[in-house]
Amino acid sequence: ADYKTNKRHRSSDEGQHGAAESLSAHRQLYERHFPLYKQPVEVGCFSLDSRRSFFNDHRQLRYYVQPTKSPGFNLRDGYTSRFVKRDDSVKEKLDHVLKWILANRDKIQTRVQPPSSSALGVDFVTWRGHLTKVLTTPYETQEGWMLAASRFRGTIYISEVETEAARVNRETRSERQEEMMYWGYKFEQYICADDVDGTPDPGGVVNTNEAFCTVVQTRLADHKLLFSGEVDCRVKDPDAPPAPGCYVELKTSAEICTPKQRSNFHRYKLLKWWAQSFLPGVPQIVAGFRDHDGIVVAVEAFPTSKISQLIKNEYNCWKPTVCMNFCNDFLSFVKSVVKEDNPRLVYLFSWDPHRDVTYAVHRDSQYTFLPDWYIQDMSS
Ligand code: A3P
Ligand code: MG
Ligand code: MG
Repeated sequence: ADYKTNKRHRSSDEGQHGAAESLSAHRQLYERHFPLYKQPVEVGCFSLDSRRSFFNDHRQLRYYVQPTKSPGFNLRDGYTSRFVKRDDSVKEKLDHVLKWILANRDKIQTRVQPPSSSALGVDFVTWRGHLTKVLTTPYETQEGWMLAASRFRGTIYISEVETEAARVNRETRSERQEEMMYWGYKFEQYICADDVDGTPDPGGVVNTNEAFCTVVQTRLADHKLLFSGEVDCRVKDPDAPPAPGCYVELKTSAEICTPKQRSNFHRYKLLKWWAQSFLPGVPQIVAGFRDHDGIVVAVEAFPTSKISQLIKNEYNCWKPTVCMNFCNDFLSFVKSVVKEDNPRLVYLFSWDPHRDVTYAVHRDSQYTFLPDWYIQDMSS
C-alpha cells in the first residue's frame, strides 16, 4: 500500500493542532513492507532483589542449563511451601527504568548531541512489555490496554495504566489460575543456575520479586527507542555473542496433542512469544510443554528468527510486518498528539478490541507518573 492508504486509516477529523484523533488497528492497513528496525544494542542492565530493591548491576542474571528433551519437571512442587509472590497490586510504573536512567545518563547521550544538553537523545522511554502489547494489538481480540504518555525534555515516556477489566481479572483469579502463574517461574528455577559454574536448585524458594532487566536502545523507522525488559537467563559460553545475543527467554505452554491445539499455539502463543523476544533482540526461546498436572513432558527451542517461517502454513495467520508497522504508526500518532513538554500532563491512550486507539488529556491527575525525584534530578 502507498502513502495515501497509509494516511487514510487516521480519522479524517484532525484536531486543532493537526493531529488525528484516533488510530485504526485494522490489520489490513498495516500490510506494508517491513519497517526499519535496528538491531537492539544493550546499553546497560539492572537487577531487582528478593525485596524488589533496585541495583544498577547484573547480580540477578542467571545461566541457562540445558535440560533433557523430556525432563519430567514437576511445576507444582513448592507452590504452597517455597513461593514468595510479588505483590502485583503495587504499580511500579517506570520507576526502575527511571532509576537506571539517572544512574547512567552519560551512557545514553548520543554523539550528535552536545555533552551539555540535558535531553536524553531518545524519542521514547518505556518497558518492553508495553511495546509487546502495542505490537500484538492488530491481532488481539480479548484484552484492551491503556498507555499513559508524557513529554519531558523532548522525550516521551510511556507507562501502562491497568484497565478496569485487568484489575477485575487480577482480583478474581481462581486458585487454579494463581497456581498456574507460578508454573512459569518454577520452570525457570529448574533450568537456571545462579552462577556460571553452578547447577539449578529446584529445592530453593521461587521469589518473583527477583528480576534481571536489560536496557536496550534501538530505532523503529524514525523513532529512537530506549526500553527495558526482564531477561530470564543467558547462555554460559563466555564466547557467546554480546548481550542481548546471549540471552534466552523461557516459556511454558500446555502440551500439544491435536491439530487444533497446534494451530492455536501458532496463532496466539507464538505471536506473543515472538513479539516479546524480537523487540529486545533475544534470539532464543526455550519452551517447556506441560501436561494438565504440571509435568514438563517436552522441551523445545524456538529461535526467534525462525518463528515467522514456522507459522506461514497457518491460514490467515499473524504477520510480523503488521505488528511492526502498527507500532511505527502508533508511535507516530503519539508523537503528533503529545506536544506539550510537561511531566504533569498525561495523554492517556486507550484501546479496546474492535475499536480505534483514542486518547484523553489529564493535568495533575491520578495518571501523572513521572516522579518528582526524576524531574528534579534530570533538571539539575
Ligand atoms: P510463562 O512464560 O511460562 O507463561 P516471562 O515468560 O515473561 O518471563 O514470565 C514468566 C512467568 O510469569 C510466566 O511464565 C508466567 O508464569 C508469569 N506471567 C507473566 N506474565 C503473565 C501474565 N500476563 N499473566 C499471568 N502470568 C504471567
Ligand atoms: Mg521472564
Ligand atoms: Mg519467560
